[in-house]
Amino acid sequence: MTGAPSHDVRLEWPDGRTRSMDIREDETVLEGADRVDVALPFGCRTGACGTCTGRLLEVDESDPADAGRDSGAGAVEAAFAYRRRPRALKDRHRDDGYVLLCIASPRVDCRIAVGSSVHAELVENPWK
Ligand code: FES
Repeated sequence: MTGAPSHDVRLEWPDGRTRSMDIREDETVLEGADRVDVALPFGCRTGACGTCTGRLLEVDESDPADAGRDSGAGAVEAAFAYRRRPRALKDRHRDDGYVLLCIASPRVDCRIAVGSSVHAELVENPWK
């Protein structure tokens, strides 16, 4: 028990499954999910591979800690604190709301799209 503040984070899978959980500010989304036995994809746990990528869908407008009311990179930066540099994401991915859940700790209540298909969106066919 650390006493760190926590936030209500709702994970949403492409098949419609959802799970809400309290995630503390001193743990990452991946660690928080792990704590309550929710399996999320991951690889390196260091922000390098992108396997754990999620996409910020919405921040809770009623959360007083919510500083970013726009979408995209500003919203991600307001919604999460990164433990280290998110090397697996390009600037345009961050602008689009993608977030590395292995190194991101929540700062607001939010909804996040999760599952391996989110990472697949980042590496979709470069030729089209
Ligand atoms: S698990 Fe590799 S970037 Fe998160």
